[in-house]
Amino acid sequence: MIRIEHPNDPSKDYGTPSPVTYAEIADKSDLDAITGIIDGVEITVAKGTSVMRAAAIADINIPKLCATDSIKAFGSCRLCLVQIEGRRGSPASCTTPFEEGMVVTTQNTELAELRRGVMELYISDHPLDCLTCSANGDCELQDMAGAVGLREVRYGFEGENHLDEVKDESNPYFTFDPSKCISCSRCVRACEETQGTFALTIENRGFASKVSASQSQDFVDSECVSCGACVQACPTATLTEKTIIEAGQPEHSKITTCAYCGVGCAFKAEMEGEQVVRMTPYKNGEANRGHSCVKGRFAFGYATHKERITTPMIRNNIDEQWQVVSWQEAFSFAAKQLKGIQAKYGRKSIGGISSSRCTNEEVYLVQKMVRAGFGNNNIDTCARVCHSPTGYGLKQTLGESAGTQNFDSVEDCDVAMVMGANPTDAHPVFASRLKKRLRQGAKLIVVDPRRIDLVKSPHIHAEHHLKLLPGTNVAFINTMAHVIVRDQLYDAKFVAERCETEAFKQWMQFISDDKHSPENNEKVTGIPAADVTAAARLYATGGNSAIYYGLGVTEHSQGSTAVMGIANLAMLTGNIGRRGVGVNPLRGQNNVQGSCDMGSFPHELPGYRSVADDAVRSTFEKAWGLPIDNEPGYRINNMLDAAVAGEYKGLYVQGEDIAQSDPNTHHVEAALRNLDCLIVHDLFLNETAKYATVFLPGSSFLEKNGTFTNAERRISPVRRVMKPLAGKEDWEVTQDLCNAMGFPMNYSHPREIMQEIASLTPTFSNVTYERLDKEGSIQWPCNDEAPDGTPTMHLDEFVRGKGLFKVTEYVPTDEKVTRRFPLLLTTGRILSQYNVGAQTRRTENNTWHDKDLLEIHPSDAVDRGIVDGDRVKIASRSGETHLTAQVTERVQPSVVYTTFHHPESGANIITTDNSDWATNCPEYKVTAVQISKVIQARQNSEWQDQFESFTEKQLELQPNGKELQHNRDKLQPNSKELADIESK
Ligand code: SF4
Ligand code: SF4
Ligand code: SF4
Ligand code: FES
Repeated sequence: MIRIEHPNDPSKDYGTPSPVTYAEIADKSDLDAITGIIDGVEITVAKGTSVMRAAAIADINIPKLCATDSIKAFGSCRLCLVQIEGRRGSPASCTTPFEEGMVVTTQNTELAELRRGVMELYISDHPLDCLTCSANGDCELQDMAGAVGLREVRYGFEGENHLDEVKDESNPYFTFDPSKCISCSRCVRACEETQGTFALTIENRGFASKVSASQSQDFVDSECVSCGACVQACPTATLTEKTIIEAGQPEHSKITTCAYCGVGCAFKAEMEGEQVVRMTPYKNGEANRGHSCVKGRFAFGYATHKERITTPMIRNNIDEQWQVVSWQEAFSFAAKQLKGIQAKYGRKSIGGISSSRCTNEEVYLVQKMVRAGFGNNNIDTCARVCHSPTGYGLKQTLGESAGTQNFDSVEDCDVAMVMGANPTDAHPVFASRLKKRLRQGAKLIVVDPRRIDLVKSPHIHAEHHLKLLPGTNVAFINTMAHVIVRDQLYDAKFVAERCETEAFKQWMQFISDDKHSPENNEKVTGIPAADVTAAARLYATGGNSAIYYGLGVTEHSQGSTAVMGIANLAMLTGNIGRRGVGVNPLRGQNNVQGSCDMGSFPHELPGYRSVADDAVRSTFEKAWGLPIDNEPGYRINNMLDAAVAGEYKGLYVQGEDIAQSDPNTHHVEAALRNLDCLIVHDLFLNETAKYATVFLPGSSFLEKNGTFTNAERRISPVRRVMKPLAGKEDWEVTQDLCNAMGFPMNYSHPREIMQEIASLTPTFSNVTYERLDKEGSIQWPCNDEAPDGTPTMHLDEFVRGKGLFKVTEYVPTDEKVTRRFPLLLTTGRILSQYNVGAQTRRTENNTWHDKDLLEIHPSDAVDRGIVDGDRVKIASRSGETHLTAQVTERVQPSVVYTTFHHPESGANIITTDNSDWATNCPEYKVTAVQISKVIQARQNSEWQDQFESFTEKQLELQPNGKELQHNRDKLQPNSKELADIESK
């Protein structure tokens, strides 16, 4: 056993995957090694390495076509033949393991002749259009023809060939040109192994073999989820991005981080000039390990969409025409308004909302502007409405407001309990990694009212799908814990050593009560007693058990209680503090973790430290040079309530669309209308901006520098690849506004903001841009105690010392079903759209989801005379809206479901003001509703009609609407004209 270095040059294809796991690499494990000789060079590699990979490690590149290092070797092309001393024939190097003492020859005349013969056959059935082909210069077939010295093709001029095969252009992002296919099956294997969708097959055999999507369907109609793994794996131009066909091969690239979900995939943004022509998942990205989903890889077109607003605008009230002004005029106007409000209504009458879509540095500046420039703590973030219960619940029990693992950890997991999360839609790359582990034999428990895709998909079948009734999470978790205690399946040693004794005793008394038994809770949760009992036993005894959860846990009146219950379960079974286990909140947006870390909550300074703590406050006061209010400020819901009451008059909103995303739209709209000054800082004139008096144009993730922190606490760089269309990065806009308010800021680069964050936040103290450039990403805490960062938390002790069991009494929500509102509405996301849809709706992703639908079970549909495709009214105690019905057994009887990606759907007209008792996270997941068929000619609800006319009016109020539209159509981001304008 010796230490072996693991080469990971991301620009190199080693031909076959490494036999060493990420865990072994991370742990710097000693491994069984083998030494042999390839072309006279002595090489030592880990046992299980292929001859091809061993050679590649020694920079000996064996020609190959069907092999690539992201998928298992297949051995079909016969190009990688080698000779091995003592063996007959010419084995394929990709499928032959390197062995101790092996002596390999990769180049000689005989092998060269064999390879030329193989290549000649491929080329004889391939269009000879290399010079005009979109892949010219980036085609492995072309490269290999050169590598084997093919000069002449003797066959193929007569007889059958595939050259007239018809292209499939149905997918909006890539084409499939079968005339160029060499049937290497790399696409098929990528779809299976990397993505886990199994959408592709090779149909037929021999000459008739061809790649087929699902049942010989067009790509767009097949099961394909457009992740692009097949496109990336294809060695020819058969599967090619349309952007490459249109714009040509990229000239340069930069590594950056996806701006969509909390997986935080690393990408190589490939550019031609300032135009992004391709986003390629970065092979060395530690969150995604070279994979991506349709959003990150393809849905970047919104960044240059014609509806981007690229000039500051102001107006006195929302009935006035917008006036285009200079940045300086906009800042002066906004500062004057805000200061005027404070003079009239008091210091606390204004505040700000930061965004989990923005960078850490931007979020840090917004909270600093509010605390220092506005002089109060009225700062909140959209994490309030998603994962604030995670922050609260995990801090209480474990001592740190964050998930405990990294994504690699799933590779060591034996039982995954996925609760209130839908990873294949909302966290697709993590879902692919989880599915890989499940295909290797790990067990799956799904806890969800709805049948999500994970429950049953190719080669995956959940051991248990516990279809609980919305709103009963805490009762369910208590039942799980009750069974584990009752059956004495808990880890008494772990609890005794690692947890607070007194609290555990109290909790044991609580949980042992028979009221939590599966039989008693069956009628509460709707889960059969036998099923929950079996699931509890599996979780407690199945080996490494990990809980992955999402907004289906947090967005409830008992969201924080449920999170604490999850932490209890992990501590009870000792499933915390090592790889493969843990408590893993799947964060919705790209920087939810970071926005919370950066002090976006009204009661906490960066690093989750209380504003009431004199010592903490004085650190910031010294650094910022002025006193900080010691009282917590308003949460978003407090801001809205105070606005309706006429006491809160000025609001700065960066990168959020509360008019669409927050619950009870009527209330939100009333609050926004009541503001005297609403400053919206965003890419588009979104729903909130319709109520704004100042619009400050934002910059997309492609236009700025900074960092995002994903669900693993991984801080990753965001790098500017094009100039900001409006001329300023978002942090500059906040800085200029703050300066106009009279509180000076003078950063010249986000690097300096990170230096300040690190100097004031103990968990970030060793984080620097230099390290991020060198190491790629860092998981916090990263400080003197953890200089390399922290992949797994709570290893030997909890951050709070001893783990704290919290009593989690189940309290049913106030939102009750009645005869008037007999069904429960719950909400969620879909793969192709993201959050309020502001970005993805402005891409081709609309191909898959151009409207929100209402899922209803056939029995509930029949009762109401509803058939698939009917327009239906959804009425709740808060309001009503109309959607199109989708009759499906995905939802259980008495539960209906919708997504919230399209503003005109008005999903939040329905949701109520109920919220989590501890954090005010809205109870989006439980709303009592009635569904009825819309029989009148009018297809829209009253609110939807008002929405349409208000939208139309606001569009008319845009300055020079037609002219702007015309200019935006003309100005493409790469055009010289735009560059000239920007440079002025
Ligand atoms: S895009 Fe992804 S899901 Fe679709 S066929 Fe290719 S690998 Fe499979
Ligand atoms: S489409 Fe590409 S990857 Fe798939 S079999 Fe054909 S050449 Fe190989
Ligand atoms: S999984 Fe999330 S972070 Fe990764 S590419 Fe998709 S949207 Fe982006
Ligand atoms: S690369 Fe080894 S057989 Fe194709």
